[in-house]
Amino acid sequence: MNIGLPRGVQDILPEDIPYWHFVEETAKKIFKTYNYKEIRTPIFEYTELFTKGTGETTDIVMKEMYTFLDKKGRSLTLRPEGTPGVIRAFLINKIYNITPVWKVYYIGPMFRYERPQAGRYREFHQLGVEVLGRKDPYIDFEIIKLAVEILKELKLENLEVEINSLGCLKCRPTYRTALQSYFYEYKDKLSPIDQERLERNPLRILDSKDEIAQELKEKAPQPLDYLCEECKIHFDKVISYLSLEKINYKISPKLVRGLDYYTRTVFEIITSSLGAQNAIIGGGRYDNLVETYGGPSTPGLGFAVGMERLLLLLKQQGCNIQTEPLIFIAIEKEEFIKEGINLSNQLRASYRVEVGPPQESLKTQLKWADKLGSTIVIFLDENILENKIKVKNFIDGKEKIVPLTNITEELKIML
Ligand code: HAM
Repeated sequence: MNIGLPRGVQDILPEDIPYWHFVEETAKKIFKTYNYKEIRTPIFEYTELFTKGTGETTDIVMKEMYTFLDKKGRSLTLRPEGTPGVIRAFLINKIYNITPVWKVYYIGPMFRYERPQAGRYREFHQLGVEVLGRKDPYIDFEIIKLAVEILKELKLENLEVEINSLGCLKCRPTYRTALQSYFYEYKDKLSPIDQERLERNPLRILDSKDEIAQELKEKAPQPLDYLCEECKIHFDKVISYLSLEKINYKISPKLVRGLDYYTRTVFEIITSSLGAQNAIIGGGRYDNLVETYGGPSTPGLGFAVGMERLLLLLKQQGCNIQTEPLIFIAIEKEEFIKEGINLSNQLRASYRVEVGPPQESLKTQLKWADKLGSTIVIFLDENILENKIKVKNFIDGKEKIVPLTNITEELKIML
C-alpha cells in the first residue's frame, strides 16, 4: 500500500491557508479595479490544446505534461498552464461575438513533471490574467503595472521587471534564420533535443536548460536587433509608458520565455531572494494564438504569478498574518450546556468560538483552550446561577466576573 505523498506535490495545511487567502484577496481586489472578471476552466483538456498552443518544441510539451488516455482512448492532459484553457473558453463560447475586449483572471492548480526543488513543484498554483482583443502598447504596459501593483500591495521587495520583445510573424523569420545559422556552427555540440529544436524552432534553444546551449546563448543573435518597424515602435511605447509611471524595468535581450506562443512583449518579474527559481511572474503578448486554434484573428496578452514562489518570498520577508481572536467557552458542568449553546450563538455573530467538551474536567478544557491558541476563555460555572460569568484573558492571565448581559461590551474592551 502506498499512501504517501507523490513527489513534487504538497498539502496546504490550515496554518498556511491565511497566507493563500491574503494573496488571493489582495489580487482579486486589484483585478476588480482593472475590470477583470474571474474565469474557472477545467483542470484537464484535450492534449492537443497544449501541443498546439504551448508549443510542440517546448520543455513543457516535450517532457513535462501529465498526459493520459481516458476510457474511450482520448488523450487528455492535466493543464500545465492556464492560458490555452482560457483561449479555448473564448472560442467555444464565441466571446468574440459578444465583446471587443475580454479581461479575465484565474486561480488554480497547474501540473508539470519537473524535477522538484525549492520553489519548483509538480503541482503548483498560478494566479493569472488574460486580455483578449487589444493590440495597443498601452495594455502591455497596463498588465505589467497590474503585476507590479499586486506585488507592491503585498509589500514584497527585491523584485525586478525584466522585459524584451520577440517580434511578430513579419520579423520573426529573419531572426529565426539568423539564429539557425548561428547554432548550425555548433550543431554537433548541442544535445539531441536541441538539435531537433535547431530544425524545428531554434528560438527554443535559447531557453534550453542544457549547459552547452546556455553557454552558446551568450553570443547568439538577439530578437531586439531584428524587430520590424512596427514592433520597434510598439516596444518603445511600452517602455516609455513604464518610465512615465516610474516602474523600474530592465531590458533583458536574452529573455525568450519557455512557451511558444509569444509575440512582441515578454516579461518576467524576478526576485533576488529565492535562488534558482527566481521568476515569480511571467507573461507576454500572444497575437497569433487564437488564430492558431482556428479562431478569428484576436490579439492577446497576459501573465501568471507562481503562488508557491510568491508565498515563499512573503514568508521570507517576514509577512505575519494576524489570526482572528478565538473565544473558548469552558463548560464546567453538563447542566450549564443550554447557557453554553446560547452564549456561543450570541458570540459567533462576531467571533470565532470553540465550545469545550462538558464531560471533561475544567483542567482538561483549559489545556485544550491553551493548545488551540485561545485569546479569551469564558467559564460557564456556578456564577451563571446568578447571571454572572467569569472571563479570562488568556494572553495576560487577567480574569474578572461580569454580568452575563455585559459580555459583548466586556469582550470589546478586552480584545
Ligand atoms: P510560466 O512562466 O510558465 O508562464 O509560469 C508562470 C509562473 O508560474 C512562473 O513565473 C513561476 O512563478 C510559476 N511556475 C511555473 N512552473 C512552476 C513550477 N513547476 N513550480 C512552481 N511554480 C512554477 C505561464 O504559465 C504562462 N501561461 C503565463 C502567461 C499568461 N502568459 C501569458 N498569459
